[in-house]
Amino acid sequence: MSQQLISVNCRDLETKTKALAEIKNVCEQCRACELCKSRTSLVFSDGIANADILLVGEAPGAEEDAAGKPFVGRSGRLLNEFFEQAGLIRDKEFYIANTVKCRPPQNRIPTEEELVACRSYLNAQISIVKPKIILLCGTTAAHAFIKEDFKISQIRGKWLNIFENIDSMVIFHPSYLLRNHSTEPGSPRWYMLKDLESVKKRLESYKS
Ligand code: URA
Repeated sequence: MSQQLISVNCRDLETKTKALAEIKNVCEQCRACELCKSRTSLVFSDGIANADILLVGEAPGAEEDAAGKPFVGRSGRLLNEFFEQAGLIRDKEFYIANTVKCRPPQNRIPTEEELVACRSYLNAQISIVKPKIILLCGTTAAHAFIKEDFKISQIRGKWLNIFENIDSMVIFHPSYLLRNHSTEPGSPRWYMLKDLESVKKRLESYKS
């Protein structure tokens, strides 16, 4: 499935929702890599089809695999707390997807082959949702779109021009924040809140 194939003129919520459901059906049947063999559920997305923000995570974990929804486990709960603190509403403002839609065994990082095999689904999701902002959450999601070497601590929080007509930013992955509890100025949790506050501000600037 090429990106051109799905760049249909998806403007309204109903058309977008229908187009995403069709892609999800195709994805359910996908056998392009080995991950489909060990998964319980396909973890395609969470959120609304016309969301302003599309967040790309790494891969489903055990709780996501059981629920069939991204970011519902410990990382997801921490992410929700940060959204709330920054004044962002997950259910209204986000469409959430991962770089791969099936859980890698033992939560290992997806391989390059798995990322490539799953990429057309993510491209389709981005093309259909056409968000105002894309957040690349963690190193794996950032590496999927940024080919140059980088340190996440150096590129996070910057507005990037990776996608045409869509503002994008790399943010820390919540699993990293689960291992770093400090909220002192300069700590990863402090930066995460600053970055999401910057997202909130940018979102408001589109409305004024
Ligand atoms: N971590 C991710 O990157 N994605 C999920 O859906 C859950 C945990």
